[in-house]
Amino acid sequence: MQRVLHITDCHLVEPGQTLLGVDTQASLEAVLAQAKAQHACDVVVASGDLVHEGSAAIYQRFLSTVRRFFDVPLLCLPGNHDVLANMHQAKLPMQALTLGSWLIAPLDSHVDNEPSAYITPDDLLDLTQAMAASDAQHLLLATHHPLVVIGAPWLDKDRILRAEELMTAIVASPGAKLRGTIFGHAHQEIEVTSEQGPLLGSPSTCFQFAPMSAKFTLDDKPPGYRWLTLAADGCITTKLERLTTHSFKPTMN
Ligand SMILES: [Fe+2]
Repeated sequence: MQRVLHITDCHLVEPGQTLLGVDTQASLEAVLAQAKAQHACDVVVASGDLVHEGSAAIYQRFLSTVRRFFDVPLLCLPGNHDVLANMHQAKLPMQALTLGSWLIAPLDSHVDNEPSAYITPDDLLDLTQAMAASDAQHLLLATHHPLVVIGAPWLDKDRILRAEELMTAIVASPGAKLRGTIFGHAHQEIEVTSEQGPLLGSPSTCFQFAPMSAKFTLDDKPPGYRWLTLAADGCITTKLERLTTHSFKPTMN
């Protein structure tokens, strides 16, 4: 059994700054502290928008912050706010991880400075090569953008398009069998069942977006994160958590 902590959309900013009135560094630390007090953890997955406007120094702070709480394998993915070169410069770990019978693998859906998802042939090749290189039986896939319509048009327009075609290609690739997918970007809880296992979106570690909103709308819900338990037989169980002490309410001013 592997226990995964999924955090996403941390949007760290320069020291002393806030974003929509939220101290995103403090909210990330509060999330990590609450999670650490709950469970031991085998792996942390951070699915993009790790910083809001990404200098390498802020990525280094992201990495050292996670490391202060969890000294376990870490998988980082780029989101639409991320700058891939700076993530590499900060030496963020971005490689697929094999843990027991599981492969936890990223699929890069981001383009620098572009909100929409875009998966290049090379992005897909990186995934299928990681699948072929691993002897794991089960695959947990991680993307930044959702693979499904979530009912909020301003977010849905940037989702991963032609997701069925993509899933078919992944399922047909040699290697671990796809059991479920985790993603971020939507800053809200999403749980959809599919033939390829659950599609699980997690809240942001800072501010949230209102479900089913037609345009950009903030939500008052607390920062959150997700636990996943990956059983040796390929079963995924999951529990969404939110900060129990909530002092990170965003504001439009
Ligand atoms: Fe985000």
